[in-house]
Amino acid sequence: MTYMNNLEEFTRLCASRFSCRSYTSDPVPEAVLQSILQCVRLAPSACNRQPWQFVIIDTPQMRSAILEAYPRQWLENVPLFIVACGVHSQAWHRPDGKDHTDVDVAIAVEHICLAAGAAGLGTCWICNFDRAVLARAINAPDDIEPIAIIPIGYPAMAEPEKTRKSISEITRCGKF
Ligand SMILES: Cc1cc2nc3c(=O)[nH]c(=O)nc-3n(C[C@H](O)[C@H](O)[C@H](O)COP(=O)(O)O)c2cc1C
Repeated sequence: MTYMNNLEEFTRLCASRFSCRSYTSDPVPEAVLQSILQCVRLAPSACNRQPWQFVIIDTPQMRSAILEAYPRQWLENVPLFIVACGVHSQAWHRPDGKDHTDVDVAIAVEHICLAAGAAGLGTCWICNFDRAVLARAINAPDDIEPIAIIPIGYPAMAEPEKTRKSISEITRCGKF
């Protein structure tokens, strides 16, 4: 593994990523978007099925369509959205039937958020949207499920304090 060998920097990246709910309207440079998409395509997935599609939304008309599915004033400035979609028919299903689409797409979405954070951009996971309205806006075929909307832009807010459980609250030695 030829990673940058800088756990400290990665820890700082994880600590500094936050749900950004205020953005400037400054555009995201195309080269930065391409680097983010490179990080997305490198995400792991169960059996390497890569059961995903990412819809890039950067026109005023499509941005308004997205906002109909999740109307929030704090999203009005956002220059770019990615709608992360799962393709259930391509996903690995465990022998007991569990569909891994959501797991795979979640990993890819967090790659987006961390890559964007590394470029000084803000993001926010959004899942509380109107699914039917969003699916219609992006013309999603029946087997493609929009799973998350990710706004991407330069933050117009300071990093808030993080509230998290402690390591001891979320880990167990060996068993429950
Ligand atoms: C799967 C998922 C869905 C989320 N959906 C929304 C959402 O619809 N709207 C929103 O404002 N934040 C949403 N969030 C953001 C969370 O509220 C946020 O990550 C959490 O409170 C921790 O804060 P932080 O991201 O600033 O560290 C979502 C986060 C995740 C992981």
